[in-house]
Amino acid sequence: MKRIAILASGAGSNAANIIEYFKSNAGAEVVLIASNKSDAGVLSIAINNAIPTFILNKHNFKESNDFIRELKSRQVDFIVLAGFLWKVPAAFVYEFPMRIINIHPSLLPKYGGKGMYGHFVHEAVHAAHEAESGITIHWVNEHYDEGAIIAQYRTDISEGDSVADIERKVRALEIEWFPHVLKEVLTSC
Ligand code: GAR
Repeated sequence: MKRIAILASGAGSNAANIIEYFKSNAGAEVVLIASNKSDAGVLSIAINNAIPTFILNKHNFKESNDFIRELKSRQVDFIVLAGFLWKVPAAFVYEFPMRIINIHPSLLPKYGGKGMYGHFVHEAVHAAHEAESGITIHWVNEHYDEGAIIAQYRTDISEGDSVADIERKVRALEIEWFPHVLKEVLTSC
């Protein structure tokens, strides 16, 4: 049984989906939810599921080993970034080699990097009149959105699609695929 910690900054729809998936699919369980925002929706999801929470700040995440110690004390095997907006420090990446996975709401390397998150991605895709978008699930390294790609899933964009339409299509891919990919990766490592 692999033990997952989820890091998230927002509403937590991906976190909720992963928690639910591993309730009925063997192989992994979510044992910790950490957020850099003390009012993030994802923390309510954790509390409703009786999953311990951890609030990240500059000191415990970037300037000390406090969070690394927390993860080790909970025997966490994998760290999943599900809408987590802070850059992961290099020291943290080195501590968990090939153990940190991110989901990004575009077909990387397009529309990745600093400032490219959430609706900003979909707005840029819309402005560029792209004919498709999608999701990328990838290993995390010390550079934003540049780690090795594990899987990508695509969706067509129609001429008349709004930013909201693009976001809806991309989110549907996240909900459909992210837990399955995690299960494949986690159970083969
Ligand atoms: C998701 O769409 C995720 O792909 C994106 O943030 C959203 C979080 O939603 N992540 C990024 O943009 C990372 N660069 P959620 O909190 O409802 O899961």
